[in-house]
Amino acid sequence: MSVKPVRLALLGCGTVGSEVVRLLHDQAGDLTARIGAPLEIVGIAVRRLGRERGDLPVDPALFTTDALGLVKRDDVDVVIEVVGGIEPARSWLVEALRAGKSVVTANKALLAEDGGSLHDAAAEGGADLYYEASVAGAIPLLRPLRESLHGDRVTRVTGIVNGTTNFILSSMDATGAGFSEALDEATELGYAEADPTADVEGFDAAAKAAILASLAFHTRVTAEDVFREGMTGVTAGDMASAQEMGCTIKLLCIAERGPDETGQESVSVRVHPAMIPRSHPLASVGDAFNAVFVEADAAGQLMFYGRGAGGRPTASAVLGDIVAAARNRLAGTRAPSESNYAHLPVRPIGAAVTRYHINLDVDDRPGVLAAVAGVFAQHEVSIATVRQSGREEDAKLVIVTHGAPDANLAATVESLSRLEIVRSIASVLRVEGGV
Ligand code: NDP
Ligand code: HSE
Repeated sequence: MSVKPVRLALLGCGTVGSEVVRLLHDQAGDLTARIGAPLEIVGIAVRRLGRERGDLPVDPALFTTDALGLVKRDDVDVVIEVVGGIEPARSWLVEALRAGKSVVTANKALLAEDGGSLHDAAAEGGADLYYEASVAGAIPLLRPLRESLHGDRVTRVTGIVNGTTNFILSSMDATGAGFSEALDEATELGYAEADPTADVEGFDAAAKAAILASLAFHTRVTAEDVFREGMTGVTAGDMASAQEMGCTIKLLCIAERGPDETGQESVSVRVHPAMIPRSHPLASVGDAFNAVFVEADAAGQLMFYGRGAGGRPTASAVLGDIVAAARNRLAGTRAPSESNYAHLPVRPIGAAVTRYHINLDVDDRPGVLAAVAGVFAQHEVSIATVRQSGREEDAKLVIVTHGAPDANLAATVESLSRLEIVRSIASVLRVEGGV
């Protein structure tokens, strides 16, 4: 007796979608054996029907520009969305989920802006919502957070989740290049998009940080809750200064839970460039790779590493979700639904405890160090190390603080900038790890 296929509607057939089609074709036999039924694409929605799609192993008659019509078809079991953006993707997916169709999406922007609408629609329709590919491409990361670590208490997630910026910073570290030079190289090699704003200004990483924090802390966190500072301000001088301290600079996403100043449990989620010691596991993550470091009470420290972008690696994660959704449909079961019971408040950046590395050009005369130290004391910021280099016109002070509320650190920098003996503040960087 032949088994009925699980029928797929593919929305989008670009960088990721075309590789999903290829993997479905090339691995059809194995996928059927693993699922217990064949997978069949019943339609592919795109924007331009006439676009050249090379040797894609699929019947051209399956292409349509009517994505909503495809989603609404009665014979569709699983909707795969690899288009991107907020609308019309949100409307398509809400429609599918409410109708009980399983959804697999790579759309980090939508999940970070309004994942709640998708989860609500999934609950309403009793449907599966999978999105492994939305964070860190091929790296199996969301399923461990969503399932494997559900018996534990995750306390911190620190990651490099944007490949483009990691390529740029790794290149600046290796060659001494400035930001624009390294960006040009990333563009030439096809890592950076024509408009790199979402990557270099940290929007892409902030969306991923929101998704990670929501899963890690059982709390809805949106992109708006994430403090975001891009990496366009990181200079060759900053990198040299980091190197002198045995460090490098990475664009980090940091999500942590803990008590706020009133003792209430809360979460803090931020994306910004940070100095980390070369001995930190994330320091050796080079090129356009991603890596995420998860800390949990019982499990301790876990590291996830791999390709965070690219059509084929991302399609691998999409395929894993398709297999899971198809198996669930055949077994009449469901994926774990959203876990947001903790409802933890999100702390503003000012309340997050961070550390700063501050590089000052100062006058070299008696009393200068005392005056500078006084400003730190005034804002209740404890100094960890001070280093002076140069003399007279060329004197530089490099100060690394202990942890303090970010607001106090920012106020310290502001006060230092108004001090007469401080000629300029050459750089200010946050510090992570044991510098
Ligand atoms: P592409 O721009 O390469 O592809 C987008 C696809 O969507 C194209 O096939 C396009 O059609 C189609 N499309 C656009 N608008 C519409 C519309 N209104 N109706 C129907 N189809 C439409 O994007 P990617 O493949 O790079 O990314 C897809 C998703 O995956 C995004 O959410 C992205 O954030 C996410 N992602 C991407 C990664 C990557 O490395 N590229 C990594 C991880 C996640 P047409 O072909 O006709 O232009
Ligand atoms: N632009 C992203 C990056 C793609 O550079 O990592 C993957 O989400």
